[in-house]
Amino acid sequence: MARKGLRYPLIAVAVGAVVALAAGGMEALAHKEKHTAEQLKAFEEVFMEQVRDGDRLFHGDAATEKRLGVKLSNTGMACAMCHPYTSDTHPQEFPKFQEQMNEFATLRDMINWCIEKPNEGEKIDPDGPAMKALEAYIYWSNRNSRLDPGRH
Ligand code: HEC
Repeated sequence: MARKGLRYPLIAVAVGAVVALAAGGMEALAHKEKHTAEQLKAFEEVFMEQVRDGDRLFHGDAATEKRLGVKLSNTGMACAMCHPYTSDTHPQEFPKFQEQMNEFATLRDMINWCIEKPNEGEKIDPDGPAMKALEAYIYWSNRNSRLDPGRH
């Protein structure tokens, strides 16, 4: 009886050790090597290129719209006229229930809502380059905000 009683805790310890090793191994695999300074710089450049395109789109730059194949407004109003410095865009609060749409919405849904409603335009491809650039610019402008999904 005494030996049988000991067997289960021993098995539990062995299983625990295997799981811990596997988890440790996976962690090491995910970030095995640190990025070099050059890699980080290249990543940052790709990101800032998107931010700059988003900035132009947000301020109603026709050439950037043309290049990315979108038209974000038919009223002559650019995003920045209602949202100076991306004010009131609250990217850190998404996804959340959006009263205007009466549905649970992502930031991209809400960008398209503004294009369709106040801007009287046509929704853009949610996965297209213009949407990605707008998203990059809005997030970049609100960096260091506390992530707070679902908040109003
Ligand atoms: C004519 C004014 C106007 C223009 C132009 C406009 N918006 Fe909006 N935007 C609004 C209003 C009004 C709301 C709803 C405010 C609210 O939910 O409190 C809103 C809300 C948003 C929100 C969600 C904010 C939140 O927390 O719910 C985002 C994101 C946004 N706009 C992005 C954009 C983008 C991107 C553009 C340009 C393509 C744009 N808006 C153009 C008026 C405008």
